[in-house]
Amino acid sequence: MEKKSKPTFYVTTPIYYVNDVPHIGHAYTTIIADALARFQKLAGKDVFFLTGTDEHGQKIEKAAAEKGMNPRQLADSVVGRAQDLWKALNISYDFFIRTTMDFHERGVQVLFKKLLDQGDIYKGEYRGWYCVSDENFLADDVPADGEGGKACPDCGKKATVVCEETYFFRLSAYQGRLLDHYAAHPEFVRPPSRMNEVSSFVRGGLKDLSITRTTVKWGVPVPGDPAHTIYVWFDALHNYVTGIGYDWNMSLFEKFWPATVHLVGKDILRFHAVYWPAFLMASGFPLPRTVFGHGWWLKDDTKMSKSRGNVLDPQAILATFGPDPLRYFLLREIPVGQDGNFSHEGFLHRVNSDLANDLGNLVQRTLTMIRNYFGGGITDPGAESDKDRKLRTDFDALKTRVFELYDSYFLNRALEEVWTYINDVNKYLAEEQPWILARDPTRKPRLARVLQQAAAAIRGVSYLVFPVMPGSAEKIWGYLGEGKKPSEVLYAEVNFEDFGPGRKTAEPQPLFPRVALKDFLGEEAPPASPPPAARPEPKKEERQMGIVTFEEFKRMDLRVAHILKAERVPGATKLLKLEVDIGTEKRQMVAGIAETYAPEDLLGKKLIVIVNLKPAVIRGIESQAMLLAAVVDDKAVIPFFDREVATGAVVK
Ligand code: MSP
Repeated sequence: MEKKSKPTFYVTTPIYYVNDVPHIGHAYTTIIADALARFQKLAGKDVFFLTGTDEHGQKIEKAAAEKGMNPRQLADSVVGRAQDLWKALNISYDFFIRTTMDFHERGVQVLFKKLLDQGDIYKGEYRGWYCVSDENFLADDVPADGEGGKACPDCGKKATVVCEETYFFRLSAYQGRLLDHYAAHPEFVRPPSRMNEVSSFVRGGLKDLSITRTTVKWGVPVPGDPAHTIYVWFDALHNYVTGIGYDWNMSLFEKFWPATVHLVGKDILRFHAVYWPAFLMASGFPLPRTVFGHGWWLKDDTKMSKSRGNVLDPQAILATFGPDPLRYFLLREIPVGQDGNFSHEGFLHRVNSDLANDLGNLVQRTLTMIRNYFGGGITDPGAESDKDRKLRTDFDALKTRVFELYDSYFLNRALEEVWTYINDVNKYLAEEQPWILARDPTRKPRLARVLQQAAAAIRGVSYLVFPVMPGSAEKIWGYLGEGKKPSEVLYAEVNFEDFGPGRKTAEPQPLFPRVALKDFLGEEAPPASPPPAARPEPKKEERQMGIVTFEEFKRMDLRVAHILKAERVPGATKLLKLEVDIGTEKRQMVAGIAETYAPEDLLGKKLIVIVNLKPAVIRGIESQAMLLAAVVDDKAVIPFFDREVATGAVVK
């Protein structure tokens, strides 16, 4: 292999079926990949980011027939719209592969033939059940339904009987090698819980896999036996090698293979963590470092999918907000391995609170003051105070932590850390009160220093959020008078000090639109519950008790939280400030419990908190959750648990 000058980072998304245009669930994977690719470029790696479309197979053949098209026409029409969507989301892929491209089909045939010649593929007969929607053979132990048919255990759709001559891949021969690989490389499947699933599946025994069909015409022909087409998953998985040049640009292939990370939804993990490495072992290729199985976006608690009819079209949101709010929301809201429920309220809350208020306002206020008080260019800043120094050194520490978090796929935690710092900058301005300093000409050097520190912090945080919100970060750097774009500066080279005196800043435009919930819901979403007129009039006793509907109750997100820190709030006899772990993240909260509990009574205890209440600021501290407590003689008594419960467990 060629000697590598820079370390490489090769990231892939699944290739999407062309039966319809991608929805928010698909956009999610692509956005994760884009953020990782952008980050690794900043980190100095040579990056390749591959995405594309999966165009062969029975599912596409069937969808095209239903639309009165041939499969090629269907694929062509969907591909253009998918590419438009990636453009609207500011996705920076290096190559978009379509499995109908000549070089891909050839590469698949070359590898098929190699495995056939060496005996890893052999001819036989397949009898069994097949799910067209998932393009998957059912396991033998899937029970029959009452009418003698079988339903796919994954998607629930009716399976069809297949009985035909087929070529098999000798998957059973790879069981031991796969298990050895999992044991030696625990990072091969992430998160770790998914590794357990995969290895227990393989330990349960592997049967040889049928990898050709005679009844499906829309596929890559088997070399030398064109009555057979190659199974769509064998075809599709090989996009990861043909897309970087296998068999047509071997130096590119050798530079980037093996992949650093294949991002896939948890539903297709088995194909990537069992079949794919077995195919690669058979071909003699090294295995990818990691297959990351991410969670699903749900709508109303079920997986968003076309067949369930609950998909959200990202284009509608993009038209109002542009790409960055959606990118931010999807990556901030959940850790990459977990499921998340998409709600319009949740989306808007994040946009208005984190983006418009915390970041957007900070940029707007700071730059407006620099214009008003210094004509856009700061001069003669006074000496650095302790608080100024803290803002600077905190940024250095933040930069290191955020690097580690991005590098290990904890994107939501990276954003969380950045926002804690953004709030510190907001607090710094609230305490330093530059608008008061501006009234006193003798304090001009101090005013200059305060605004310079704030602008330096803004420059730093916008760099750190660049992988997730590239457009906004570029705009902010432009307003700050930077000659370069964030993408042109390496991570190691970004310093707080780089925003020095003498820069000419520009007039900022609002970065994030403020949209009222009613306007947003009116445009975007069907009402979550029937409109008021359609609801039965509540009974009198319901009205008296302030009865809420189950739907209303369900909107509350109650969870088990673990108390990590507790301290008194200075000058407030009733208040304690707590730091709690809610399973997915840490939150700080302020609670009126100091008359009943000393801080040390609470450490390590678990309690119930509401986590989706709008944050409130109490005594200058943002309270980001609320605990439940009984009020006894005017004092709060917390209901603790009588047995061990997991942190983050949902309470309902
Ligand atoms: N064509 C195959 C992949 C072949 S890769 C060699 C396929 N395509 S797909 O279009 O059905 O799905 C592509 C990806 O989108 C999968 O990883 C799937 O998990 C993901 N998602 C589909 N709906 C999703 C959500 N609602 N939420 C998150 N991801 C989801 O499978």
